[in-house]
Amino acid sequence: MTTVNFKKNILCVGAGYVGGPTMTIIANKCPNYKVTVVDISQERIDAWNSDNLPIFEPGLLERVQKARGKNLFFSTEIDRCIDEADIIFVAVNTPTKMFGEGAGKAVDLQFIEQTARRIKENAKSNKIVVEKSTIPVRAAETMANILHSGNSSVQFEILSNPEFMAEGTGIRDMEAPDRILIGSKDTPSGLAARDVLMEIYLHWVPKERLVTTNLWSSELSKLVSNAFLAQRISSINTIASICEATEADVTEVSRAIGMDSRIGPKFLNAGPGFGGSCFRKDILNLVYLCEFYQLNEIASFWEQVVSLNDYQMDRFVKRILQAMFNTLVGKKLAIFGFAFKPDTGDTRDAPAISICKRLLEEKAYLNITDPHALKNARKDLQDFEEGLDFVEDPYKAVEGTHGIALITEWTLYKELDYQKIFDKMEKPAFIFDGRNLLDHKALYEIGFNVYPIGKPALNHL
Ligand code: UGA
Repeated sequence: MTTVNFKKNILCVGAGYVGGPTMTIIANKCPNYKVTVVDISQERIDAWNSDNLPIFEPGLLERVQKARGKNLFFSTEIDRCIDEADIIFVAVNTPTKMFGEGAGKAVDLQFIEQTARRIKENAKSNKIVVEKSTIPVRAAETMANILHSGNSSVQFEILSNPEFMAEGTGIRDMEAPDRILIGSKDTPSGLAARDVLMEIYLHWVPKERLVTTNLWSSELSKLVSNAFLAQRISSINTIASICEATEADVTEVSRAIGMDSRIGPKFLNAGPGFGGSCFRKDILNLVYLCEFYQLNEIASFWEQVVSLNDYQMDRFVKRILQAMFNTLVGKKLAIFGFAFKPDTGDTRDAPAISICKRLLEEKAYLNITDPHALKNARKDLQDFEEGLDFVEDPYKAVEGTHGIALITEWTLYKELDYQKIFDKMEKPAFIFDGRNLLDHKALYEIGFNVYPIGKPALNHL
């Protein structure tokens, strides 16, 4: 492979949900840069090199195909690629630590540290190292300490450049971002490194959307962004409970408050709780940070966002139980949607996991259907040998069931023939629309007992 024609060599360590799509867009937008994505997993790299990508993201495959083999490469040759790179993005996973000090809240930094050590061992020339993974505030300092340990003359400049793309809309978020945040040190070499990174984004992002801050503000802003978004969801979910008790309608309340430009309309959809790999993890990371600095009241404020989310999932199950005469023993339920949101096969921290586990504990029998997440759903529920089935076709999934619980708002569920579905179900037939996706009045007229979120039930009983 020759590098002579490229302006710079970009490397990304970690070919996951962040590294793969981000580097694909950079390669698409900057044909004069060589972009290589490396990972320790041969299987994952092979998948990136095939047309069966390891992640499902609308629009991604075409963009990979456009650049792959030209200026976008996927490889497991980590050491050689480190040496060749000018700019190294670190996009390895930073899961919640599940052992020892900070278990359940702090971030497990072992992959970040391993990557920093590997960069240090293989870098023979100066590098810009960009934190892309979401990490605790002041993690850049830890990386810098590792990279500059010993007596090598190689210089590393660390930048923070958190990722704000959301799954399912990742391509759009990257191609037309609200903002690109770059944190750097306020030193001549820090600012010079920042300018090198800015130059990449300026290929397609307007200058006014590039926000520069100090390193710690950038790291903290990533956690705070996700914490604020999740807090909005927990807030509206508390209002959904009040609506169910008072016969107000949460969709109407969201609309009414969202028209206040200070509040805004987004992220005000009540549901069965938020999921995904980031919200819970990042809030708990923020909680841990607060506890570390003995800001205990602030820690409990943010922890409550997570507790309310757990409460919301539990409430969804309790509503099903109460509606179905307080017992689910031997009853069959179809679960519509398992992914944590539509347009992704990702089930990390999906509300469906905890909801299905609770339903199985109540001895319900579950037919789980989802257009993209059944493979992951099988893994998530592998401890349950009995009481569940995974069915591709939603019409098959509803056969002989007593109720449907809609957990993920895939568009296809809106387009099903509910009369046909009703005819295949046991009576009385229940539908629990966890996302307020369906036409509740029409379902009621067919004969369903309909339980939306944050609205009065439409019940024939
Ligand atoms: C989230 C953020 O939106 C991204 O900006 C961020 O970059 C990303 O985390 C990350 O840190 O990697 P993501 O987890 O992909 O993105 O998905 P979201 O669209 O934020 O949805 C998260 C959860 O909230 C989903 O379960 C969704 O169903 C739920 N949600 C969202 C609601 O229940 N109600 C809403 O109104 C919106």
